[in-house]
Amino acid sequence: MQPRHLLTLLDLCPAELDWVLERAILLKKWHQEHLIHDSLKNRVLGMIFEKASTRTRVSFESGMAQLGGHALFLSHRDTQLGRGEPIIDSAKVISSMVDIVMIRSYSHATVTTFAHHSKVPVINALTDDYHPCQLLADMQTFREHRGTIAGKTVTWIGDGNNMCNSYINAARQFDFHLNIACPVGYEPNFELVSNNADRVNLISDPATAISGSHLLVTDVWTSMGKEEEQLQRTKAFANYQVTPELMDLADNEAIFMHCLPAHRGEEISHDMLDDHRSVVFDEAENRLHSQKALIEFLLLKPDP
Ligand code: CP
Ligand code: NVA
Repeated sequence: MQPRHLLTLLDLCPAELDWVLERAILLKKWHQEHLIHDSLKNRVLGMIFEKASTRTRVSFESGMAQLGGHALFLSHRDTQLGRGEPIIDSAKVISSMVDIVMIRSYSHATVTTFAHHSKVPVINALTDDYHPCQLLADMQTFREHRGTIAGKTVTWIGDGNNMCNSYINAARQFDFHLNIACPVGYEPNFELVSNNADRVNLISDPATAISGSHLLVTDVWTSMGKEEEQLQRTKAFANYQVTPELMDLADNEAIFMHCLPAHRGEEISHDMLDDHRSVVFDEAENRLHSQKALIEFLLLKPDP
């Protein structure tokens, strides 16, 4: 039987995504009660990192330990992947020795190629194009703070990057409306936008986009791999900083998210993370709980 993967949010149907979120909320409760739940005893997760990470590594590695399993950190610097061993060969070898794999890479084709040749489930832990694991944590966080996101309006401010593309997929899978405010030339994937034209609006003015929104989200102006564009991006995004004053234009019950790491004084003002509407540290913690639920879903295949 072919393994299931999470390469984008479209790999799970809405009912399966709903199962993952509800499971994440339950696993979080058990974790807070110090209850031992070793559903993944003797299972091994291989974690391949081409790019830097704090949250993703710590959450996957801790999550596996908490579920009774083990995680292996495989950096490009120390494996043959970094010396040019083909992805296809690496996928065949690594997936013959571990139970599940997560990959953080530049090219999205790296994770799709790996998954195609893998005997075990593969999780996209961020590529230049998508970051679905972050969306699981974001959707769990919204549900915990405000209930269902279906029918609500979310506004994305800033770069049309991997997170923004994943928000477009989330709008479809979780049934919400998405406004995207980004400078000309920094729009998200054109095909994704046009395929979701019924629920995604590109609005260049942040103040107009945020009016009446229930969730405001932003991310860095310069993603990993784009460092040489930093100066020109700082100029292009100058009018796209999220501040408490901008949040005031949203719905009274609106909350603020950022996947982190954040750059105070760039995409957010110095006081934004401390604003009473910011839920970013709950959002970061939920990477742990939602990914534990995801791994259980992929390995134990419960019927949603
Ligand atoms: N949000 C996120 O993926 O953080 P890291 O880059 O630290 O893993
Ligand atoms: N868009 C950012 C997200 C980091 C978690 C990046 O790709 O660097």
